[in-house]
Formats: sequence, C-alpha cells, structure tokens
Amino acid sequence: MKVGILSGGGDAPGINAVIRAVVRKGIQKYGYEIVGMKDGWSGLLKGEYSPLDLKAASGILPRGGSILGTSRTNPFKDKKGPQEIMKNAKKAGIGAVIAIGGEDTLTVAHKMAEFGLKCVGVPKTIDNDLSGTDYTFGFNTAVAIATEALDRLHTTAETHHRVIILEVMGRYTGWIALEAGLAGGADIILIPEKPFDIDEVCELIKQRQKRGRNFSIIIVAEGAKPKGGVEIVYSESLDEFGHIRLGGIGYYLGKEIEKCLNIETRVVVLGHLQRGGTPTAFDRVLATRFGIAAIDLVHEGKFDYMAAIKGNKIISVPLKDVIGKRKTVILQLYDIASVFFG
Ligand code: F6P
Repeated sequence: MKVGILSGGGDAPGINAVIRAVVRKGIQKYGYEIVGMKDGWSGLLKGEYSPLDLKAASGILPRGGSILGTSRTNPFKDKKGPQEIMKNAKKAGIGAVIAIGGEDTLTVAHKMAEFGLKCVGVPKTIDNDLSGTDYTFGFNTAVAIATEALDRLHTTAETHHRVIILEVMGRYTGWIALEAGLAGGADIILIPEKPFDIDEVCELIKQRQKRGRNFSIIIVAEGAKPKGGVEIVYSESLDEFGHIRLGGIGYYLGKEIEKCLNIETRVVVLGHLQRGGTPTAFDRVLATRFGIAAIDLVHEGKFDYMAAIKGNKIISVPLKDVIGKRKTVILQLYDIASVFFG
C-alpha cells in the first residue's frame, strides 16, 4: 500500500521525528510505500507530493520544522476542494493518509472520511490544547524554551529593578505560560482561561515590593485578556480556518503597569523562537511513539482515529471525539502556581 503523510498548521518541534518513525516502520516492517505531501493539505489539493524513502527520512530526528513544509490550507474553503483531494489521492494511488496536526488539520482529516479518504491523525501543537491526549509533541520544547527565557529575564530584571513581561504563544489556552511560569518561577501568570484585572496585577507587584523584591517577572499567553475585555489582535486578517493573529498583550500590560505603578517595564515577545529549532528529548520520544502508533493504526485499518497519550500509554481515540473541543489548562495547576504570585 501507498501511505501519504502530511503536516498541517503551525510547525512544532518533533514533526520530523514522526515522519522518520512512519517511514522506518512503514517500509521496513509493513513493506509500504510512503509519500510525503507538500505543505499540508495543500499538497493533496494541488497534487504536490514526492516519495519518502529510508534515505529521505535519515538524519532528521533532531531537526525542527517539517521536511514536508506546512500550511494552513483548508480544502473545505472551496466546494470542490474535497473532490480535488480524492481525485489526486486516487491518481497517486494513496490508500491511507497520516495527518500530523492540531484541531484544524485533524478536523479536515475527519471530514474527509465522508468522501472516502482513510486518515489517521497525529496530535501536534505547541499549545497542547488538543483534546483526547494528555500531551501533543512540541509543547515540551516550547515550555523548555520559555523557561530558559524566564531564567534569563530574572537576572536582568533583578539587576535593573524592572518589571519584565514575557509574552508567549497560546491562542486559546495558557498551557505554555502556566507550565513555563511554574518552572521558571514567574511572579504572575496570565492565561486566556482566567481573564485578569489590571489592578490585581499591580497589587501583586506592590506586594512584592513590600517584601523587598523590587523586580517582577510576568508571563502572559498571547490570548490572555482583561476581565470584560477582548484579546489584543496583531492583525485583523483571518487565516483559512478563521483564526485571527494575536499579539500585543505584553505591551498592553507593560504600559498599564507603568501607568499605575510608575515603575520601569520591559516586554519580550518570545514568538516563533518557541516553535523553531530542535525538539527536546521528551518531544523526540513522544513524536516517535506517535509515528509508530500511526503507522500501526494504518496497518490495523483503524481509520478516523488519532494516536494519543494517556498517562504514559499510547492509545488511539476516534477523531470525532477530538475535534470541536479544546483542552484547557488544569486549574489545580494554576492554583499551585498562584501560591507563588506576588
Ligand atoms: O500553532 C498554534 C500557534 O502556535 C498559536 O499559539 C499561535 O497563535 C499561532 O500558532 C501562530 O502561528 P503563525 O505565526 O504560524 O500564524
């Protein structure tokens, strides 16, 4: 059988580890041919793909990004999109597709089942907000990078007696902010799940000052918003799945804090540094386990399912139970982090 593989949505460190695992087990154990689709669903839509042999998948384990490229192409934007995909899959002789992605990419995979495409999903997003799995690969790397940033910001914030705000990714959920904030000892963590009150934020900084700490570190997820307010948007343009580009909450906070406390602030937007580059060992192992599980699911003929991790066990979950939901942060974890606020 010929198995197609694609990566869609924002990249996450570990995609290449998934590809390597699929290629190695697919070819060596099952005797499949593996075909790489260029730039996510766009590759199937436009008929752009190329064979992935053992050589092509060699040496890519530690590499960030995706050797296949990615895009936020939504084939359902155009009425003819799904038929076009089926036509191209048939032409290429593709019997099954492994889709590596988050909510958007996997929603397409699920919807394509109606048209007869046999898909298996692999959960990927640095945001870790996908349902049905405890972890997505890429998240651990993002947390490690954000934690290192917090460590570095601590020394300069303390030396200059400043409030430094680190803005991290997390459109709808604050997983990265929360875990990095906990690991990096942030004095305040602001996440989309808990709209904030700027007066309370300032009060926490004052509390620190009272106990002789004349600097503070705040970590904020890009999707965090003030109580009764809305997210800060970088650009109004929407992607093909209807997502707006967020960004700017860090600067908003910096200005508000300067206004109410008359203290110097600085803002660091971590941006794509938390998505680029080599995956952590944890993400390499997780991505490899997901890749192996995905090709096993193909072999078992278990389509419309996603490989997932629960506890430390790899399982499979129906895609219909994954999509349309969002895994928000564990509030118990936020309560633990808040012990260290102020
Ligand atoms: O993949 C999700 C994510 O990491 C979000 O946290 C962020 O808003 C988005 O990607 C930004 O992606 P891009 O810059 O590629 O549009």
